[in-house]
Amino acid sequence: MSGAFQAPRGIPDYFPPNSADFRKVRDTLTDAARRAGYGHIELPIFEETALFARGVGESTDVVSKEMYTFTDRGDRSVTLRPEGTAGVVRAVIQHGLDRGQLPVKVCYAGPFFRYEKPQTGRYRQLQQVGVEAIGVDDPALDAEVVAVADEGYKRLGLSGYRLEITSLGDDASRPRYREALQEFLFGLDLDEATRKRAEINPLRVLDDKRPEIREATANAPLLIDYLSDEAKAHFDLVLANLDRLGVAYEINPRLVRGLDYYTKTTFEFVHDGLGAQSGIGGGGRYDGLMRQLGAKQDLSGIGFGIGVDRTMLALEAEGVAGTQAARCQVFGVPLGADAKAELVGVAGSLRAAGISVDLAYGDRGLKGAMKAADRSGARLALVLGENELAGRRIEIKDLGNGEQQQVSLDDVVAEVTRLLG
Ligand code: HAM
Repeated sequence: MSGAFQAPRGIPDYFPPNSADFRKVRDTLTDAARRAGYGHIELPIFEETALFARGVGESTDVVSKEMYTFTDRGDRSVTLRPEGTAGVVRAVIQHGLDRGQLPVKVCYAGPFFRYEKPQTGRYRQLQQVGVEAIGVDDPALDAEVVAVADEGYKRLGLSGYRLEITSLGDDASRPRYREALQEFLFGLDLDEATRKRAEINPLRVLDDKRPEIREATANAPLLIDYLSDEAKAHFDLVLANLDRLGVAYEINPRLVRGLDYYTKTTFEFVHDGLGAQSGIGGGGRYDGLMRQLGAKQDLSGIGFGIGVDRTMLALEAEGVAGTQAARCQVFGVPLGADAKAELVGVAGSLRAAGISVDLAYGDRGLKGAMKAADRSGARLALVLGENELAGRRIEIKDLGNGEQQQVSLDDVVAEVTRLLG
């Protein structure tokens, strides 16, 4: 028995016309990065498994539960990338990019893979646009990264989102906080798994979604109250720069991200129209990641990952989705085989002149073909019947106002170019 195939569970397809929104989101976000000097980076879809285990952190859900890991034919363990930062840092180290101009500023777009429980806005293949700026620990750069994301959302016409930001402190801040938090957590009546978590990564307990844990940890000490002087000064400058850039934010000292590499500035963009999957983008600074991934020198980096799928849903929720992108500018309607042969050539010449053209294929008659022309979103239809062809002429119809004219087949490219001008 053979049924029809389905895409793997939890993996969205994007096809016309909605795929125009997908492209718009992706391109608008990457354009915002480009305007701030981020260059394009294209990285492998899969990497050595240990890169993510070490980079993202063994105690995270992403690594412990959600990785698409398999053994290749050479018996190596490889993993479909669950996120982009570890790969970028790997490439920076491998190619010695950190020996050049700093910071290294790169932008990426593409699919990432997490074996999560699928639901609206949570997919197993998710699309991100991300940036990373590596090699300079400057609060002005933190603010730039945040502002690039904010600018991207604004340009898309999104308004119902907010930016939550906090500082996770530096090496000097953490031990003191960890101690205070563990002391608090060990005083609670926790189940075995949670207690274990409190030992390995107490911060992650604060990210627990279970109501009883939320309630029990409501009064837990907050890292932001344990920042070293240096980390506090850094955070204050980030906020001052965001004010200068006109980026609104809310400090959320309880913000916990799902990846382990964050230090200092950490942020998330949240959209309230999306239900449970409200994070449309997030990121932060990572101080120890280069060393963690084997670099001799440790350079600080900062970046974000924006969820393209969720940003599309957010645009829909706000009613600003639905890019009315015309599929083509010109639609050719041939009536008869000779006319079709001629129009195929005309279409080629128009495309060579930079004009997008589609034709009515499949001999469907004038009425059906004109309907297809309307649906294509084209501004002009070229109608070629046997009589016109005999006179080496062609009819150009403006699909907006219905005006028609005949021109010589020799002049059609020039005339169409003029009309679209
Ligand atoms: P992340 O918060 O894990 O960060 O993912 C970034 C964004 O990807 C999320 O805010 C969300 O919009 C989207 N996303 C994540 N998982 C899913 C999913 N299962 N389905 C749909 N969308 C999803 C990172 O990945 C970091 N690498 C970001 C970063 C870059 N930090 C520093 N540099």
